[in-house]
Amino acid sequence: MLGMTVLGADTPLYLNPKATPEQRTEDLLARMTLREKLGQVTQIEIHRLMTGFWNKGPLDSSWMQTVLVDYAVGSILSGGDGSPMKNTPEEWAKMTNEVQRWALKSRLKIPVLYGIDAVHGHNNVIGATIYPYNLGLGATFNPELIKAYAAKTAEEVAATGIQWTFAPVLDVGIDPRWGRTHETFGEDPYLVSALGVSQIKGFEESGKVISCGKHFNGYSVPKSGKDRHPAEVSPRELYEIHFPPYRAAIKAGMSSVMINSGAVNGVPAHASKWLMTDILRKEMGFKGLVVSDWEDIAKMVTYHRYASSVEDALALSYNAGLDLNMVPMDVETVDQLERLVKAGRIPVERINDAVRNVLLVKFRLGLFENPMVDPNMAEKIIGSRESKAIAHKLAQQSMVLLRNEKDLLPLSKDLKNILVTGPSADSISRLCGGWTIRWQGAQEHELSGKTVLEAIKEKAPKAKVTFIHDARNAKRLVKAAKEAEAVIVVVGEKTYAEGEGDSETLQLAANEEKLIKTLQNAKIPFVLVGAAGRPLIIPGGNKAAPAILWAFLPGTEGGPAIADVLFGDYNPSGRLPITFPTSVNQVPMPYHTTKAYKPMFPFGAGLSYTKVEASGLQVKPKVGMGQKVQVTVDLKNTGKRAVEEVVLLFVKNNGSSILGMSKQLQGFARVPLKPGESRKVAFELTPEQLSVWNKDMKLVQEPGRFTVSVGELSTQFAVEK
Ligand code: NOJ
Repeated sequence: MLGMTVLGADTPLYLNPKATPEQRTEDLLARMTLREKLGQVTQIEIHRLMTGFWNKGPLDSSWMQTVLVDYAVGSILSGGDGSPMKNTPEEWAKMTNEVQRWALKSRLKIPVLYGIDAVHGHNNVIGATIYPYNLGLGATFNPELIKAYAAKTAEEVAATGIQWTFAPVLDVGIDPRWGRTHETFGEDPYLVSALGVSQIKGFEESGKVISCGKHFNGYSVPKSGKDRHPAEVSPRELYEIHFPPYRAAIKAGMSSVMINSGAVNGVPAHASKWLMTDILRKEMGFKGLVVSDWEDIAKMVTYHRYASSVEDALALSYNAGLDLNMVPMDVETVDQLERLVKAGRIPVERINDAVRNVLLVKFRLGLFENPMVDPNMAEKIIGSRESKAIAHKLAQQSMVLLRNEKDLLPLSKDLKNILVTGPSADSISRLCGGWTIRWQGAQEHELSGKTVLEAIKEKAPKAKVTFIHDARNAKRLVKAAKEAEAVIVVVGEKTYAEGEGDSETLQLAANEEKLIKTLQNAKIPFVLVGAAGRPLIIPGGNKAAPAILWAFLPGTEGGPAIADVLFGDYNPSGRLPITFPTSVNQVPMPYHTTKAYKPMFPFGAGLSYTKVEASGLQVKPKVGMGQKVQVTVDLKNTGKRAVEEVVLLFVKNNGSSILGMSKQLQGFARVPLKPGESRKVAFELTPEQLSVWNKDMKLVQEPGRFTVSVGELSTQFAVEK
């Protein structure tokens, strides 16, 4: 409490919580030596502080002394495997408290900013609720619920003494070969912006955890489809597709940005003054903290071969606009930076700015007043019932029903004999994917929740449920399938993160393909459930099975959510946030870049167990420049079940001074409709949404004709001078 703070006459201003963060920053900065400043712009990973290094072990006092006291580094992170030896919420809190205790022994007593990848919940911590990955969240088209999830996650992160999540991913996922596609909200910049903003608000409004939009910029479109390979991407594509989520995120109060590990048009992003300073700071007006990605200064030498020494790389990057270097394994960069500043190769003013950006965040978070947490609270907050309820709802809403011939689904709960098959049916880890407990994914025993198989057994208590892993014994499989009243096949992917998840084919693993083909050849109708972090090429394509349900990576509540849909306790409402191609040769083919769009399943596809009719799409036929445009459409649930209908509004520009996107999502809504209920849904298009990035890359509104569409309905209006 503010009133409780006892401030002596000689207490420095920066320790006075009544002063503004800006005043405190300037006061502290003026007291710092050059080396202390360089410590603040350095980030080290927790393994470095453990006695066994990569083999972990307790925190090592001599490394704690070196890193946190002698070098006084400004930030520590836990990477994908950076958990305490015993992975419990309490041990996490004790570990971060211990880090702070050492940091506070440094001359100026500056607490550390602790960062982690909480990318689908507080996912490194055993016991934490694991939410659907962003691609599944994309399918929900539900910004409010995503904000609630981020707020809950912020509570969990803060409870373990961590103030910074490296989330959300704001990359636009237009190439499903890329191993991080599941970390994106999908292929549409409007959708990524809207959902990114809601996550950012959920984190930032907690006042305890800051967000980090990543990876700026062009990271998701390596030419080869492989993680961290170079991207060749036109300025037009950057402006239209990859920049907008950052513009929106900055407006929403995003405190930090992480830089793309790859190279864009021949320049590693970490060396790009154009990206980090001209675009991010000057053009977009970002005022927060810019952090590097893992080891990316050194990688300018070892991987990109762009700089000839780490010192050269450091100079390039800091001069281009970097604030904080995720080194993350040694503190030598502080010595190297000192030499560079003394030699005049990095102006001290640039370093001062970088330090300001680090310190401001710490003061705004109140970190000097509250650097530690109560480990008992961590145990109470992590994995709460409320967080599970939100995760369950999100998982339900993320399910996309892609086919349902003859209303095969939902299944009756009175079935007597069910066959469940496929490697994703009895694995929770596969439903969660990478960055879960460990970088490349969790071991089964580290997760709590129900598998799809367990959840199915609960829904149909009278049924004999047989589980067969795959088609190794094809005869046995076919026999069991013929005897069963319903066959449910759950396929997906092994867990992965980053480049380990790149795919050249988008195919299922051989045993999963064989499973599907065996049942198809035996002419056995089945329900196909895909639980994967990307679209996959399924044998038989969009007719692979009479019922196809795509579950993305739904997290620890995914098993029950899938069963809810299969047995009709939830009416599916998700829509594809990404195109499902017919073959890998179509890739990349986001819906907005081509008129010749014939995918396996289009962006926006998704069915439910009811029928909603849309009619009366209306827009004023003429508007003036600078005016907002109202669009309305009537929906009626003509079926027998209640639904939350997701409506997507697309806008096509029928002629402008430049060829832009072929059509664009410009609005969406989730509309609850009871059986027989009608509702009018209204959208508003702003002049900005009707503008184009012209030949000079300026956003301008031009007169012209536009087509708006909702489902099969479309109508036109004109913008006149
Ligand atoms: C590398 C990943 O590219 C990035 O997304 C992540 O935030 C950092 N490692 C820290 O774990």
